[in-house]
This record gives sequence, structure tokens and C-alpha cells, in this order.
Amino acid sequence: MASADQIRLLLVEDVPQVAQYVRGLLNAQSQVRLVDIVADGTLVPDRIGEHRPDVVVVDALLQGRLRGMQLVKQLHDQKIGVPVIVLTVPQNPISIDPQKGIDEVLSMPFNGYDLMTRITGVHKAAAASTERGPSRLIVVFAPKGGVGKSTIAFNLGVAASGLGVKTALVDGSIQFGDLRGLLRTPRDAPSMLDLPTDRIAESDLAEVMWHGPADVDILLAPPRIEMAEMVLIRDVEKTLSLMRRLYDLVIVDTGVGLDELTLSLLDQADTILEIVTYDATTIRNTIAMAETFQKIGYPPSKVQYLVNRSDASAGIDPHELRNALGRDPEYQIRSEGQVVGPASNQGAPFVTAEPNAGVSRDLVEVARRLLGSSIAGGRGKPALAGAR
Ligand SMILES: Nc1ncnc2c1ncn2[C@@H]1O[C@H](COP(=O)(O)OP(=O)(O)OP(=O)(O)O)[C@@H](O)[C@H]1O
Ligand SMILES: [Mg+2]
Repeated sequence: MASADQIRLLLVEDVPQVAQYVRGLLNAQSQVRLVDIVADGTLVPDRIGEHRPDVVVVDALLQGRLRGMQLVKQLHDQKIGVPVIVLTVPQNPISIDPQKGIDEVLSMPFNGYDLMTRITGVHKAAAASTERGPSRLIVVFAPKGGVGKSTIAFNLGVAASGLGVKTALVDGSIQFGDLRGLLRTPRDAPSMLDLPTDRIAESDLAEVMWHGPADVDILLAPPRIEMAEMVLIRDVEKTLSLMRRLYDLVIVDTGVGLDELTLSLLDQADTILEIVTYDATTIRNTIAMAETFQKIGYPPSKVQYLVNRSDASAGIDPHELRNALGRDPEYQIRSEGQVVGPASNQGAPFVTAEPNAGVSRDLVEVARRLLGSSIAGGRGKPALAGAR
């Protein structure tokens, strides 16, 4: 009976009768699903990582190594980002105080209606507060290597940030770490492998992010090829979901081919920005990819096509590419080796190094159109607003 709309509840309760009572109340309805009952407070952070509840109910009188209100404080300090309802008794009055992680209070005795209104109330408020501008995950992908994914992902991130959108970049080309190369980062710069595996807090993430140009935070891939296999898909998923809460826009660069990690990234994407060029292999692979995406069940609107080096058609008729895509590509970026090459060699984004170059104007235009409403909702200074 699990449904995507159900609110997932984790109950922290060491009195079996109370746990049983709550379970009974919830059994009578389908809006809230009880994902677990935990009697030991020290296990709660792990269980939250495991079950990803939408709401946590903690009994203030929880006994054991971690008492109820200590747990509430700990969850708050760790910025778990899940609303907490504190269960108490009239003899132990507690006030709602979101600054201390007490989002709601439920005093015994309570009935099913009391419980449900508290749960749905905090869930709705939490959902509304995370909807600060639609956070978007854009995965830059290509059906063939070397077409400009990393260059575009990096410059798009810088352009978006310049347009006032709080942006993070993730190096999803985990074997070769293309962004490391592009940014000339030192070998010991932290990577996604330095994140804890179980549960990732905002502070953990802040420690490993590389601060790139134009306020773009970058999560780097491991420094060595053989370390790629240590990157677990599950951890990347958790990291991305945390990043979505902290940034308006997350852009992920991908490696060559369609391995398991890339597939998971594509699944999570709101938009797949597929980079294509005028060459026969791209055209053939694009058709194969479109079929695969259709089989997976992606709606056509999930993929947007960007023709890179669009003025370098190398003898291929634009109609051929159009036929392969089944529609006109959404975006185009011209080829301008004398701008892109030197900037990349210096580890600089060409959009800011040469803002007036044609290729930079093309890219800012892509950012504007791709991000649309996110720009209006974004924060920060629109440094590139004048570049046209
Ligand atoms: N619009 C452009 N004009 C000129 N040169 C470009 C343009 N886009 C990309 N390049 C150049 O093309 C080369 C390949 O780009 P990039 O490394 O970004 O491709 P990629 O798709 O990430 O490759 P890989 O598949 O290996 O990850 C780089 O040398 C880059 O500077
Ligand atoms: Mg690359």
C-alpha cells in the first residue's frame, strides 16, 4: 500500500504500550506510514539515514543513554532537516520552539485526530520551507565522449551563479575527475569519498566542497582512477538529496558511457542536458539513447538537447541531427577554440574570462533559458546580468 504521497513517520518510543497505541491509531488510516519504532535514542540518526522519514516523533521522556530531549537537541544540531514532534505528558510541559528543534508538541492523552493534524501540519510546513525557489538537478550527459560535457557543466555552473542562482557542481565523472583537471585542483583536494558513508550532515558537506570561481561550490570526484569503485551509488544519492536542500541548482557532470552510477544520476535528474555535436557517431548513439530513455520511461521533456560547436557541422546536414533527436535541439553553443582552449588551460571559466566572446554569450543565454524561473527566485548578485 506504499504510496509516494504517504508521509513517512519514525517513532522514537521506549514504552511499548505507547508505541502500540500510536501504531493502532495509524493503522486506521493510510496517509501516514509508520516506517519504524526505535526504543534506543542512540540508534535514531542511523535509522533516519536508513528510512528517510518525513517526520520524527520523539517521546520527551525517553530513557537510556540518550534521553528524549537530548536526542531532540542532537537531531537539531546535526541539521537533519526532518521536522520533529515531541511527545510529552501534562506534568512535563514543553513549548514549541523550532530554534531548538521542537517543531510541534503532542501532549498525552491524545487521539487519532490530534496525532494526524500534528504530523500533517509539520510535514506541510517543512515541505513549504524547502520550496524556496525550485531546487533543480541538471545532469549533463552525452551519448559520446569528448563533446564538451565538462566544459559546459563548469561554465554553466559559473553562468548560473553569475545570474544569482545558488549553484553547486558535482563531478560525476568519477574515474577521471574531469572537473579536477579543468580546475587544476591540487591532488589532495577533498572529494566525495571524504564524506561519511552513513549519514551526511550539512557540516560534513561544507568541509569537502571545493570553492570554485564565482561562488560555485564543487564536489570533486576521487583523485585516482582506482578509487572510483569506492564511490557508492547510495551515498551519492544521499549527498545529492542533501545538496538539493542547500542549493537552488545542482549541476552534475558525467563520465563517458552509461554505467550504473550515471544511470542513477539520470534517474534523479530533473533535467538531462544532453550534449550532441554534428558527427555521425553522436547521431547514431543519440538515437540509441533516446530509445533507452523511452524504455526506462523518461518523459521526452526530461531531456533537453544542446548542440555544442553548432557552427562546426563537419559535412553533416543539420536535418540529420534533427531527425535523430526527433525535434529541434533546445540550445546551441558555437565553437570558439581560441576562447575555450586558453581559458580551460588556465583552469578558468570562459564565461567570466571572456564574457563578450560569442561562445560565452551563447552559454549565458543557455543558462538564462534553461533556468528560467529559478533566476527570478534565486539569491545573490546577478554579476553576469549585463553580459549579452
Ligand atoms: N564550444 C566549444 N568550442 C571550442 N572548444 C570546445 C567547445 N566545447 C568544448 N571544447 C573543447 O573540447 C574538448 C572536450 O571538451 P570536454 O572535456 O568538456 O568534453 P567532455 O564531453 O567532458 O569529454 P569526456 O567525454 O572525456 O568527459 C576540450 O578540449 C574543450 O576545451
Ligand atoms: Mg568530461
